[in-house]
Amino acid sequence: MRKKVSIVGAGNVGATAGHWIAAKELADVVLVDVVEGIPQGKALDLLEAMPIEKRDVLVTGANDYAATAHSDVVIITAGIPRKPGMSRDDLLHTNFKIMSDVVQKVIAQSPESILIVVSNPLDAMAQTAYRQSGFNRERVIGMAGVLDSARFRTFIAAELNVSVENVTAFVLGGHGDTMVPLVRYSAVAGIPISELIPPDRIEALVQRTRDGGAEIVKHLRSGSAYYAPSAAAVEMVEAILKDKKKILPCAAYLEGEYGIEGYFIGVPCKLGAGGLEQIVEIKLTPEEDAALKKSADAVKELCAVIGV
Ligand code: NAI
Ligand code: 2OP
Repeated sequence: MRKKVSIVGAGNVGATAGHWIAAKELADVVLVDVVEGIPQGKALDLLEAMPIEKRDVLVTGANDYAATAHSDVVIITAGIPRKPGMSRDDLLHTNFKIMSDVVQKVIAQSPESILIVVSNPLDAMAQTAYRQSGFNRERVIGMAGVLDSARFRTFIAAELNVSVENVTAFVLGGHGDTMVPLVRYSAVAGIPISELIPPDRIEALVQRTRDGGAEIVKHLRSGSAYYAPSAAAVEMVEAILKDKKKILPCAAYLEGEYGIEGYFIGVPCKLGAGGLEQIVEIKLTPEEDAALKKSADAVKELCAVIGV
């Protein structure tokens, strides 16, 4: 039997995630949204592309969560995105209400599912989903690090005019201005970027990565990035559905790892059939450790505001 992935929020990120999943033939897809007609219309349109793409998957759309029953993975993108001048944190109260409502409906239909949270502010929304679902931490994972690292990798590849396939990078911490691009663990064909790029240029690439979301918002003027975010969420889904044991930077609920207790923050995670199968602890320098703690403090502040 084919796997089933439901996506709540059939907007830009959600519908595009459905597109990547169907194009990769990973699973049957169900799009859900509060707006009537949007999930049904987008799903039918995507389904009708399958004969052309030669992919045997079902794509359906609904406003009712019954259609999501027995999903293996549920991606939650429901909420409002940023507009120019807004930070991710400005979305906090609205998206908290939406996330709380959505999670109850999702878990009623798919109590065994793994949740991938995308809505912003990411770490606080993952914490909301974790608290409201009552799931163990293995089954609630936030998407941000794969996206932020992909942006860093894009900029490194362009700087050196090399294939993106050669570039590995890790961005840890919260999905916000305090994110922590780990220069020491970023490499091109195994060569540390510090051997290839002068320090002032590395700093410029790091800053562009931190501002990566805002850069897109500024161009679009209405709404935020969705191609790379949806591809990032789907890389996580693929790792889970195919039990790949893939190490990816994801927001995970920490229970003392990295000296942080009781909050979601971006760290290297092993994803497989069990969801979050391991948090990989790497040795940080005192500066990196301080930056991660500062980022965790920003997450804690947001969680305190919404009481999660
Ligand atoms: P969008 O506005 O295109 O789509 C959001 C969809 O959610 C809309 O179709 C809306 O009708 C739906 N929705 C709202 N309330 C709902 C509810 N109660 N139940 C079901 N659906 C509901 O926004 P977009 O661009 O898809 O972004 C979605 C979220 O993802 C935003 O919060 C955005 O900030 C976040 N995001 C997070 C990223 C990350 O790295 N974690 C990257 C990109 C976006
Ligand atoms: C991004 O980084 C808006 O969080 C979203 O593009």
